[in-house]
Amino acid sequence: MPLVVGRGRSIKAVEQSQNADNLLVVVTQRVLTTGDPQIEDLHKVGTLCKVEGSTPTEQGSRQIIVTGIGRYRVMEYNLSPGGYLEARGEIVSDVYSTYEVRNQALFYNLKELAREVIELLPGATEPLIKLIDRVEDPGYLCNVCAAYLSLSLSEKQELLEMVQINERIEKLLNAMRKERETLQMQREIRDKMSERLNKAQREALLREQLRTIRSELGEEPGEGIADELELKLQEAGLPEEALKHSGEELRRLRALPPISAEYHVLRTYLEWLAALPWNKKTESPIDLQRARRILDEDHYGLEEVKKRILQFLAVAKLKNDIRGPILCLLGPPGVGKTSLGQSIARAMGRKFIRTSLGGVRDEAEIRGHRRTYVGSMPGRIIQSIKRAGTRNPLMLLDEIDKLRADFHGDPSSAMLEVLDPEQNRNFTDHYIDLAFDLSDVFFITTANVVDTIPPPLRDRMEIIEVSSYTSYEKLQIAKKYLIPKQLSEHGLRNNQVILPDETLCKVISHYTREAGVRDLQRKIAALFRATAEKVVEWQDKSGSTLTDGRAIDLGPGQLQEFLGPEKYFPEKAERIMKPGIAPGVAWTPQGGDILYIEATVMPSGKGNLILTGQLGEVMKESAQIALSVTRAMMSRSMMAMVLRKSYDLSQYDIHIHVPAGAIPKDGPSAGITILCAIVSLFLTKSIFSNLAMTGELTLRGAVLPVGGIKEKVLAAHRAGLNHIILPKRNESDLIYIPKEVRDQIHFTLVDNVEEVLTYVFGTDAFSAQAAA
Ligand SMILES: Nc1ncnc2c1ncn2[C@@H]1O[C@H](COP(=O)(O)OP(=O)(O)O)[C@@H](O)[C@H]1O
Ligand SMILES: [Mg+2]
Repeated sequence: MPLVVGRGRSIKAVEQSQNADNLLVVVTQRVLTTGDPQIEDLHKVGTLCKVEGSTPTEQGSRQIIVTGIGRYRVMEYNLSPGGYLEARGEIVSDVYSTYEVRNQALFYNLKELAREVIELLPGATEPLIKLIDRVEDPGYLCNVCAAYLSLSLSEKQELLEMVQINERIEKLLNAMRKERETLQMQREIRDKMSERLNKAQREALLREQLRTIRSELGEEPGEGIADELELKLQEAGLPEEALKHSGEELRRLRALPPISAEYHVLRTYLEWLAALPWNKKTESPIDLQRARRILDEDHYGLEEVKKRILQFLAVAKLKNDIRGPILCLLGPPGVGKTSLGQSIARAMGRKFIRTSLGGVRDEAEIRGHRRTYVGSMPGRIIQSIKRAGTRNPLMLLDEIDKLRADFHGDPSSAMLEVLDPEQNRNFTDHYIDLAFDLSDVFFITTANVVDTIPPPLRDRMEIIEVSSYTSYEKLQIAKKYLIPKQLSEHGLRNNQVILPDETLCKVISHYTREAGVRDLQRKIAALFRATAEKVVEWQDKSGSTLTDGRAIDLGPGQLQEFLGPEKYFPEKAERIMKPGIAPGVAWTPQGGDILYIEATVMPSGKGNLILTGQLGEVMKESAQIALSVTRAMMSRSMMAMVLRKSYDLSQYDIHIHVPAGAIPKDGPSAGITILCAIVSLFLTKSIFSNLAMTGELTLRGAVLPVGGIKEKVLAAHRAGLNHIILPKRNESDLIYIPKEVRDQIHFTLVDNVEEVLTYVFGTDAFSAQAAA
């Protein structure tokens, strides 16, 4: 390193160094402008150097060449009688952390980055790179890098004083990343210029350079940016009105200073316009055979659903128009609604794009914020269209039943506009503020429950129910779809795992409780992760990647080890039936569930009915009805005979509770269950533990049909109950229940409460004739 030494004191020190092995301590002063620095003005850490050569200059100063030997910490400065400063101190060594891996990683990163930076430098860089490659000592590499970087003096001093090598490297890495950016930018400027340069443009050269620099600094209207935008807008194929509008906005952009907020807002807006697929389409003509094949390829069973989808496609093909009712796939989570949407898109040769509507409560989320808003953006529809990159994707509006209206406005009215074929040709997002044609988008919606879909939207929809799977169906889905998919996702081959049906059945019944197959898929993935670990362990041990002839056998006994203890047990086993408890089946958005209703009676009451368990209005009313029906029957003589004593119900309080208490429940379908709980209490007779029931009760004692029969029956079946009481008018729903389940369950169809009580309590004293 060449240095110029000017001050008399310093020249004396250089001369003196000849008597001390040519060693010299070089330090910087704290403030550069101090003319005559005193001891306290000097830094305490500097560099110990060897003077290699010294030549006087004409101005009376000296030019010297020094080699750095090491960093040096001064303990004490002394003014020597010779008039120069003497220093006493010690070499500073680097301190290494004991975390070897991290040390290595940092060192390697530094080398890598150094190479990158050097490559960006103009001129021949080959020797420097070779030098870097040879360096083995991290401290030395730091010194070399620091010397070449354009850092401020104080930053360099800081680096010099750092003792922890890793700290030093980290600081250097930061500085070098900045350096790399600067160099890259310089190179870009150079490149941009050389592109446009020719002999006649010597004069233009300087102007161009100036301009590039200023636009990089953001000081001049970014001509380049506006030109680029203009080109993109021309290519985007905007419709006439939009084109005119964008032209005006572009002119406005050119006039704005790029540092202004408005410039930024406008530029973002124009970029949105340019990025929308105004005229891009993908499509293949509808081919029913191919569609059928694709649907089967991706999904097991679902015959009814597939048939409806194909019919829908057939109509679209005949009409040559996809407009019409919007398909709504309705069903519990994990039954394949979203993935069906994906298959349909594949079958139609369209891009698939999923837009989640769950929890959307603000109209602006659908239709965007006006541009005046800081950070405003288009709504979800336009964002999805941009992501799709075509103007005719299949857009899956997921969870439309979770749209909520509140004081921010009603998102469902915006949705209505999106879905209405009359209006969506000119869909106007608040942000985009121009009509975008959505009429070629193929919309499909999904929902868990039908009741909470806003009614005007529901009207537009053709609902296709995708219902829960039986254990048998789950087994088939696992074998034919989930397992092959998970095998390949875990890098496993068929012959490396043995997964017997017995194991799968146990996973389905004891490790999952769900309507769909999502949890099952997760459990299979967990099994395969464990398998992968074993396979690799074995390979490492044997030193071979061939495992042929050796497979991991996942017998049912192994589940405990891989998945932990069993999580679910058939519900029935947990319950000891007592008088006052009646088993119902309920429909929930997650599929069906077993519901035990409890009743108890308290003497010296006032005829009150106490209801707990977060019951909705309708359910409260069914409890009232059940009680009234019971009282009416009790007043009849035969009932009193069955009871053997007559209660004066106005002297008792009755309490009905529906666990689980924290979950809100509603609906009329527990009517006959509540009735049975009350009657069982008065009869002091338990209900058989293999029985379940559902049905709405009227005040006159009739039993009316209820919804969700398939889900409810499957839930009872899962819980191991094999006798179900259903309203007679639900008989037609039984055909939707898979045969393998139907065969195992005994159905009793009832019309009125006398029949219910006769079946449940096993006496014909309740029969209509007896009562009469
Ligand atoms: N009948 C089926 N055949 C094959 N795979 C299925 C079937 N039903 C669901 N799946 C798989 O289960 C997973 C969850 O499905 P998903 O579409 O997310 O359910 P949903 O949208 O109804 O909640 C997906 O990986 C899907 O492929
Ligand atoms: Mg879904």
